[in-house]
Amino acid sequence: MIAYFNGEFLPKREVAISPDDRGWLFADGVYEVIRAYHGRAFRLEQHLARLRRNLGEIALHLPAELDLSALARELLARNGLDGDAAIYVQVTRGAAARAHAFPPPGTPPTVYLSARPFRTDPGQLRDGVLVHFVPDTRWARCDIKTVNLLPNVLAQQAARDAGAQEAVFARGDRITEGTHTSMAAVIDGTVVTSPETENILPSVTRAVLFDLSRELGIPVREDVLTVSAFARADEGLLLGTTTELTPVSGVIEPAVRFDAPGPVTRELQRAFYRLVDRECAGTR
Ligand SMILES: Cc1ncc(COP(=O)(O)O)c(C=O)c1O
Repeated sequence: MIAYFNGEFLPKREVAISPDDRGWLFADGVYEVIRAYHGRAFRLEQHLARLRRNLGEIALHLPAELDLSALARELLARNGLDGDAAIYVQVTRGAAARAHAFPPPGTPPTVYLSARPFRTDPGQLRDGVLVHFVPDTRWARCDIKTVNLLPNVLAQQAARDAGAQEAVFARGDRITEGTHTSMAAVIDGTVVTSPETENILPSVTRAVLFDLSRELGIPVREDVLTVSAFARADEGLLLGTTTELTPVSGVIEPAVRFDAPGPVTRELQRAFYRLVDRECAGTR
């Protein structure tokens, strides 16, 4: 596959990242994952707006002339990705002699984009996934999509070891989010999802869920979702760029099983693909 790396398009295997790169040394960088359907990036501007905000939050400045939107589109074209795909974007504070403080002014950031064919697991979309709750021991700025994903890696492995497909973080009884998903529940016909705070990533798919619910006339409420309320919910949903709207079929502990996908989830899923088709022009 062709990737973009610091100003040029080249075969991905030829990308050579410096061992002094601050992304490698300190996880000093941010990233995005964007889906494309029918060869067109979905909600690209929302993803890039989040990336720009995250860059601002970590005081990392990109050259004004760098057009990430154009680069993402060109990457799809150069790789002949005219169907369903995923685009990865990562920006780090560049390569410099190892020291915690910011590198000397003028150190260029490292900018990397790649793309690959990608479809959300159809079996999981149909039958749902099991989730495993884990204590949210991450830092206090989970609204920033940094490449420091070690807590997510460990949590996801704990979920796999427990027989689940996704780990969902909780602070005490309060659900924050999954390792790479937002979470929602359907309770008495209302879609409930935890409000955005610095403990949660402002999820693009969660915003899509609000659009879909409005369109369908399904009430939505932002309310702290607790593990105990989730266990009593009618339906559970995981939301994410790579997960789309995946039903939750159950929880490992407390042991709960849902009839997945429930009727509200099915309606939302259908509306999601109609929206994708409208925005990315094609048929599915
Ligand atoms: C921690 C976390 N929460 C939520 C999400 C879902 O966000 P989005 O819908 O923008 O993909 C992700 C996606 O990668 C994530 O990493």
